Amino acid sequence: MITPGTPFAPFNDVLIDPAQLKARIAELGAEITKDYAGGNPLLIGVLKGSVFFMADLARAIDLPLEMDFMAVSSYGNATESSGVVRMLKDLDAPIAGRDVIIVEDIIDSGRTLAYLVELLQQRGPASIEICALLTKPERAEVEIDCRYIGFEIPNRFVVGYGLDYAERYRNLEYICCMDEANLPPIEPARTRAQVEEGHPA
Ligand code: IMP
Ligand code: MG
Repeated sequence: MITPGTPFAPFNDVLIDPAQLKARIAELGAEITKDYAGGNPLLIGVLKGSVFFMADLARAIDLPLEMDFMAVSSYGNATESSGVVRMLKDLDAPIAGRDVIIVEDIIDSGRTLAYLVELLQQRGPASIEICALLTKPERAEVEIDCRYIGFEIPNRFVVGYGLDYAERYRNLEYICCMDEANLPPIEPARTRAQVEEGHPA
């Protein structure tokens, strides 16, 4: 695993470690398996933050299921909600008559999910539930009826296990806090050839 506190990921404040993630996702999977017994739910992952959660959750559900993805953007800058939700990628298939479970990384203000639920509701699914890995109850601005919650966390900015800061740190295997006063500068992406040539970032 990528060690906490490396130059690449200079955060030591691990909030949820890989074993805790695994154990809780197994519980969520078992709950969904029970609740949808005999059914065939459609998991809708919200890109990109939910990718690892979606992959692990889907494998913890012992039912025939399908997976689809959509992408929306809700953030004006790296850590503050702009309140504007824009559709970047829609679903591949219709959801009419389906039992939909929206799989989301984190509920912060709740605006993204409020928008998504309203949008998907108009397409006539049989049911819609939400499964969020994390919620920050202190930040809630819009009331969201979330059936499955992995962990309630304090009002801290977190990265890892899919969650990013300026697109980085999604590939950490754990969830850790970043202090906003202490955000590291993010260099623009460089190719390997540029790095080898000593090209400035
Ligand atoms: P909301 O619309 O304010 O609920 O924001 C939800 C989206 O904001 C999530 O899907 C994340 O992409 C992003 N977000 C909110 N809080 C955090 C955080 O602590 N770390 C990383 N991304 C976050
Ligand atoms: Mg994000």
